[in-house]
Amino acid sequence: MQDKNQLNKIKDLAAKKNRQKITCLTAYTFGMAKIIDQFCDIILVGDSLGMCIYGMKDTVDVSVEMMINHGQAVMRAAKKSLVVVDIPSNSFEKSANQALKTAQRIISETGCDAVKIETTLDQIAAIKMMVQHDIPVMAHVGLLPQQVRKIGGYKYQGRDADSAKKILETAILAQEAGAFACVVEAVPQKLASQITKNLTIPTIGIGASADCDGQILVIDDVLGLNQEFKPKFVKNYANLANQITLAIQQYVDEVKSQKFPAKENVAD
Ligand code: KIV
Repeated sequence: MQDKNQLNKIKDLAAKKNRQKITCLTAYTFGMAKIIDQFCDIILVGDSLGMCIYGMKDTVDVSVEMMINHGQAVMRAAKKSLVVVDIPSNSFEKSANQALKTAQRIISETGCDAVKIETTLDQIAAIKMMVQHDIPVMAHVGLLPQQVRKIGGYKYQGRDADSAKKILETAILAQEAGAFACVVEAVPQKLASQITKNLTIPTIGIGASADCDGQILVIDDVLGLNQEFKPKFVKNYANLANQITLAIQQYVDEVKSQKFPAKENVAD
């Protein structure tokens, strides 16, 4: 049974389509979620935590337990935003029933509002089954990072007519299966615009132009914490890696020179 608060958040989101842009960021920790919660419609506990938190090379080996641990941390902080937790790789592909069991576990152990599933035509039945069991589902089409080893890298998708048609069809079928929103990742503007016009549910773009109903970015990219990977669609709004480096250098210098701790940092 979905609770009233969760249903209202999803309704509010739907009402923003064609009216107001939807704002989303990823978060994996309590402190970050507490700040983002004041400003964003959606907090995604993305499986990008594999890279951002665990130093993995991609999201393929992220586990359900990792998603649950970080989902719990974010849920302790979030009071307003809709919290969505990613269903990680290797936990849903076998059958719709496997996807349902994983989603039920994530929802019951974190208390999050919804799950997100990277969506090919193979996942439509899973979306339908989760929705029938009252689990709000966000679809995700275009570039699917969990497939990165199969497709040979983080490449824009839907560049030719056939693959664009397949992505559009997948998004429409995900909506028909009951998804309440759809992430559209790394596709050309024309396709993002077509998907957004053809869906009645909101599209949330990442590398998919301003034509989507909302935008999402990975928080580490927004804050300039990730120095190694910078796709074209990322914008750094700060350079925290530099600031953190300077702060740590200063701390180490002050400990070595005995400037820290000073008198005011010591109990009487
Ligand atoms: O895992 C993630 O952070 C995501 C977003 C980039 C959409 O799926």
